Formats: sequence, C-alpha cells, structure tokens
Amino acid sequence: MAGEDAAGRRRAGDPVAVPVVRPRRLRRTPGLRRMVAETSLTPGQLVLPMFVREGLDEPRPIASMPGVVQHTRDSLVKAVEEAAELGLGGVMLFGVPATRDERGSGAVDPGGILNVAITDVVAAVGDALTVMSDLCLDEFTSHGHCGVLTPDGRVDNDETLKLYADMALAQADAGVDMVGPSGMMDGQVGVVRAALDAAGHAEVGVLAYSAKYASAFYGPFREAVDSCLEGDRRTYQQDPANAVEGVREALLDVAEGADIVMVKPALAYLDVLRRVRDAVDVPVAAYNISGEYAMVEAAAERGWIDREAAILETLLSIRRAGADVILTYWAAEAARLLRDG
Ligand code: PBG
Repeated sequence: MAGEDAAGRRRAGDPVAVPVVRPRRLRRTPGLRRMVAETSLTPGQLVLPMFVREGLDEPRPIASMPGVVQHTRDSLVKAVEEAAELGLGGVMLFGVPATRDERGSGAVDPGGILNVAITDVVAAVGDALTVMSDLCLDEFTSHGHCGVLTPDGRVDNDETLKLYADMALAQADAGVDMVGPSGMMDGQVGVVRAALDAAGHAEVGVLAYSAKYASAFYGPFREAVDSCLEGDRRTYQQDPANAVEGVREALLDVAEGADIVMVKPALAYLDVLRRVRDAVDVPVAAYNISGEYAMVEAAAERGWIDREAAILETLLSIRRAGADVILTYWAAEAARLLRDG
C-alpha cells in the first residue's frame, strides 16, 4: 500500500491516518435526534401569566406585547379554560385595579380585582391547572412601588411585610393554589408562609420570585399593568452584576419555606438559573418576561426571524439552563406548537 514499506510500516513524511470522530452520526435522522435530545419541553412545564383589569367591557390589547391582552373577568375565565385544555401547568394572575392608593389597599380587599378573579378562575377550572397569583403591591399603589413608603419616600421593608401577609390571606381565601411573592422584600417568604399556616392555609404553596433583577426588560409589563412607577426598583430588586447573590436569595427563600424558587428575567440570567438549579433541592422556575417576549415579536413582525422557531428555541434554552417550570406569555401558543408539531 502507498505510504507503507514492504513490512507495512509507515515511511517518514507519509500522512497519518487519524480516524475521524463523528458526532454528526447522531444528527442524521429526526429519529436519532429525538432519541438523544437532552432537554424536553412539554405543556405541563409552562405557566401563562395573565392580566385582568377592573371595569373593562372587552379585552384590551397591550401594544408593546402583541397578542397579549388585559382581560375582562369573563374573557379571563375563557382563556384559563383554554389553558387547561391545552394541558398547561398553570396560570399566574395579575390584577389591574381601577383605582390606587398609597398603601395598595385593593390588594387586600376581598372584592379587589385580583381576588375576585382568582375565585372566578378556580370555580371554572378547579384542579385542572395550578392557579397562581402575583403577590406584590405595585399594581395597587398610587406610587407604583412594590411596597409602602416611609415618610421620606423609601420602601419600608417590614411595614410592607405586614401587607404581604394580609394579601396572601386574601388570595388564599379566594382559593388560589400558590401565591407568588414578587416584591423582593427581605423575609417575604417566611412571613407569607407563617401567615398562611396560622390561618389554616397550609396547603397553599409559595412560588418565590427569589432572584429578581432590576431589569430594563420589564418595560412592556409597565404598560400591561398601567404602572405609575417613576424612578426605579434598585433598592430592592437585584443588581444585574450579581450572580452569587442570586443563589443566596434562593437559598434564603428555601429556608423560609418556598416550594418553588424563581429566577427573573430568564434570558439575560441563564447563568444565574443554572447556579440556582445546582444549589437548591426544590423545583426552579424562570420567568420569560415581557421585554423578552416583545423582542422576539418585534423582530418577527419585521420578518427578521422565524417567529415559531424562535419561540421554541427560547423556551428550550431556558429549560436547558435549568428551569423546571417556565412562566411565558407564549405558554398557550407553545403548547399548540408542541401538540401540532
Ligand atoms: C411585580 C412584577 C413585575 C413583573 C412581574 N411582577 C414588574 C417589576 O418588577 O417591575 C414583570 C413581568 C414582566 O415583565 O413580564 N409585581
């Protein structure tokens, strides 16, 4: 043979035959790719965040979130029934009240929009999916902060905790399955857990917004809830520079009794998500937020990306980074895409 002498030995200067390692072998057919896929995406892992607004006659589109609306009480119930039929894991409800005050009293009022919506939805779907509610004052306060303010205008942590405890009870009384404290007050999970237990609501779970960052990507959400916020949330939400701190927040929440911990936003924080997943022994959720949704929708509208492929790739990447559960405005649509192939 060329390159060898009579004894079959390689001669100096001859090329060396290196066997090619071929990872592509496992990518050749759809069946092979399916068989070796490391990450799955199923409707049961998805939670749909939804907005219900007091006093609406018909659903009102949110311009910066094409396809997402502020619901009426009726349209909310219909949409939640659809979500249950699609096999979603759950819904996360946000209320938009008609009036607001300094202390966000609409949040603790049993007749407040979020509390009545919880009851409507639970009556319609029962145990078919998990009904969760945002537990935060920002939609209900006239100043738009997630807590109450001190006379000199700072967010008062411990005074806010008392209201969170009351809000948790109002939501539990309304029939919610899990509350989602999202205001980033220190001690909020422990206080909410204790309040629920003391009132006989031990079965109500806590999905804690544990590592929640002060993000520019919340922009469209402000429109979704008609937020009045001026200024920012940097004294309570986390600095985007910090990942170790995100793990610390998650560990604290687990110690305080969180059933699920969450990282938010998702895409700019996939590293935090992975670290949290590796650090805790409870399910980890990620919130694929309004700005992340809007970016894909805007680019797709201009024909710059393939919308459906981008949606599924986005959600898969969040799963791959470590999320067991994903809150996403695409939850219903993704479930349809997964079902119809
Ligand atoms: C606070 C809350 C916010 C979001 C969910 N809960 C806004 C904020 O913290 O500024 C944002 C969700 C999104 O942007 O999709 N109640």
